[in-house]
Amino acid sequence: MVELIPAPRHVTRTSSGHGWLDERTPLLAGPGTEGVARWLRATVGAATGCPLPDGGESACPLVLGIEPDLPPEGYHLAVSDTGLLIRGGSATGVFHGAQTFRQLLGPAAFRRAPVTARRVWEVPALAVRDAPRFRWRGLLLDVARHFMPKDGVLRYLDLMAAHKLNVLHLHLTDDQGWRIEIRRHPRLTEVGSWRARTKFGHRASPLWEEKPHGGHYTQDDIREIVAYAAERHITVVPEIDVPGHSQAAIAAYPELGNTDVVDTSSLSVWDTWGISANVLAPTDATLRFYEGVLEEVLELFPGEFVHVGGDECPKGQWRASPTAQARIKELGVGDEDGLQAWFIGHFDTWLAARGRRLIGWDEILDGGLAPGAAVSSWRGYAGGVAAARAGHDVVMCPEQHVYLDHRQHDGPDEPVPLGHVRTLEDVYRFEPVPPELTPEQAEHVLGTQAQLWTEVMEDLARVDYQAFPRLSAFAEVAWSDLPAPAERDFADFERRMGAHYGRLDALGVSYRPPAGPLPWQKRPGVLGRPIEGAPPHR
Ligand code: ACM
Repeated sequence: MVELIPAPRHVTRTSSGHGWLDERTPLLAGPGTEGVARWLRATVGAATGCPLPDGGESACPLVLGIEPDLPPEGYHLAVSDTGLLIRGGSATGVFHGAQTFRQLLGPAAFRRAPVTARRVWEVPALAVRDAPRFRWRGLLLDVARHFMPKDGVLRYLDLMAAHKLNVLHLHLTDDQGWRIEIRRHPRLTEVGSWRARTKFGHRASPLWEEKPHGGHYTQDDIREIVAYAAERHITVVPEIDVPGHSQAAIAAYPELGNTDVVDTSSLSVWDTWGISANVLAPTDATLRFYEGVLEEVLELFPGEFVHVGGDECPKGQWRASPTAQARIKELGVGDEDGLQAWFIGHFDTWLAARGRRLIGWDEILDGGLAPGAAVSSWRGYAGGVAAARAGHDVVMCPEQHVYLDHRQHDGPDEPVPLGHVRTLEDVYRFEPVPPELTPEQAEHVLGTQAQLWTEVMEDLARVDYQAFPRLSAFAEVAWSDLPAPAERDFADFERRMGAHYGRLDALGVSYRPPAGPLPWQKRPGVLGRPIEGAPPHR
């Protein structure tokens, strides 16, 4: 049977025959599908050497069209010896159909230039009817801990599109780096985008890489990333993390920190992992500063959601700070948790007034939220359950299941033995909807998201290694209409992965080898050795 990932809802072989592409195949793009045609020519056209002209004679043309009766992201693909027909409920549906079509052409269709002398590309005669389970099928890229140059982000957008993922959550700021140009606050990147050295491996490791690390995206880079994503029907959600995870910003602008308890003028961009104690001061000046940041962010990112972090904000400095304590009294918010809720609530209202919606990590539930705000549930399922019960939309990102920085094997054969073991099969059996939700509450689960936190991923090859093949399994969880976890046919998924590895090879993905002894197992070195006494957590 056909080896598609993610699995479509229905596939039937309609005859033993086939359709085909060759150098004369015309690509007839109906109204609204011109962007998909452009994408097909740039990718499938480049890989196959078939130019896909917009007219001409052929017994088997490639035809794209919108059929509004289909679900917006759904599509029908019909292949026969009289045509290759892709119809979608919208251009997005047609795009997903085009992705399926590319998989049917074989792995060589994923290259950037032809590698075979093949003149005719056959596709089995079949009918595919498909639509996604969830509308938020996300991937977080942490470009703060290790900077990913723009080309890497564009490449991940291509990899996401190939897997029908549709939300890129860009984690743009953290203690260890600020990655987006903000014109009115230039020191955020002049100072905040570089650190002098980097903790190597786990935060308990004794090793440092003694060289500067950094980089940032200009506003034109961001515009290009957003446009490239849009052409692939992917929305980019920016994250500006407040009030914790902010040491890089404080290093750039010391007045943002709690200057009455620490000398923030001597802080630098953080060079180790974990959670910095240096958090934003809860002052009006800080709010105004970040309103300025967000004004520029809103100009660059047109999507509905803006992520404001809200996670892991240590309260020690606020406890010690007379300024923060006076603020708690003046606002009548009770304690430091109330102060954090006030801080997040300010941006919730501010974004809502500008027609956007706030999303934050599940800590933002503590202290109450405006109705439009949404939650990324990362500390297991509990935050997602609480959010959905309180009527908030939620994206399920539980650390135990879909944090792809966690190790893939329980042995000394992982480059850095970090976190819980999460195998390909574990990810395949992940269920995003918490079972305790009623059907109405479950409507609030917008979808799910895999996280690539990059403390231990210093380059693109390491990101690939942690992401794949598990991201392929995750994509199927997010897209396909799978049964309950225990009933999922993992053997069939592995069989289809057999073909999919060929596609990943053609795309140049440095995935974790699927089986057999890994090359470095025979000589475990510093990288492969578990770190004495290190907690099984990032
Ligand atoms: C998180 O992992 N702190 C969201």
